[in-house]
Amino acid sequence: MNIDIVTLLPGLLEGPFSHSILKRGKDKGLLDIRIIDLRDFGLGNSMQLDDYPFGGGAGMVLMPQPLYDCILSLKKQREYDDVIFLTPDGEKLTQKTVNSLSLKNNLLLLCGHYKGIDERIRDLLVTKEISIGDYVLSGGELAAAVLVDAIGRLIPGVLNDETSALTDSFQDGLLSPPVYTRPAEFMGMKVPDVLLSGHFKNIEDWRAEEAYRKTKERRPDLLFPEI
Ligand code: 6GU
Repeated sequence: MNIDIVTLLPGLLEGPFSHSILKRGKDKGLLDIRIIDLRDFGLGNSMQLDDYPFGGGAGMVLMPQPLYDCILSLKKQREYDDVIFLTPDGEKLTQKTVNSLSLKNNLLLLCGHYKGIDERIRDLLVTKEISIGDYVLSGGELAAAVLVDAIGRLIPGVLNDETSALTDSFQDGLLSPPVYTRPAEFMGMKVPDVLLSGHFKNIEDWRAEEAYRKTKERRPDLLFPEI
């Protein structure tokens, strides 16, 4: 999969993709991430990117022309399945959306800043708008990193079997059951007997019960959605 990310702060995106699972995905050639510096498409000698909002108010707005030039130059190189704008007023990210995005070949992510981007770019070029939760970040970069991590780990071959994505919290709509490793007793606290029993069916049943119990306690909304 190819993921291109347009940003004003390329430095912020260097770290997240150079470690662990996403690094493995890149090293195996399963995931290709390119960071594009929007500044390269700035206007005039000062490479201007933002301007005051029409109608007044605080904060600056990213001008349409640099974004337009940048996206069009990228579109000449690839046919994107989606052009995704990371924004707090987007659709809230869920595992379901992550699953469906993980099946795409080419994604373009746009990170916003300041007060946002000129609405006409959203109307003209953006196909999907995503928020990672109900709180405000100073820019879309960290949200893009979250999205790429969530997508990247689902690409076949990126994770090995021990860390299979199929047993994740949310993949089956439930939170994950507790896990334990050696020693069997720690600070006087014992690992549940069933996990030491070697009885596969009982272990599976216990895990399913614990997952249900935990979900009901912490996230009843996952079991009984309101809408
Ligand atoms: Cl995608 N961007 C920003 N700036 N803040 C956010 C967000 C995105 N998702 C949640 N908060």
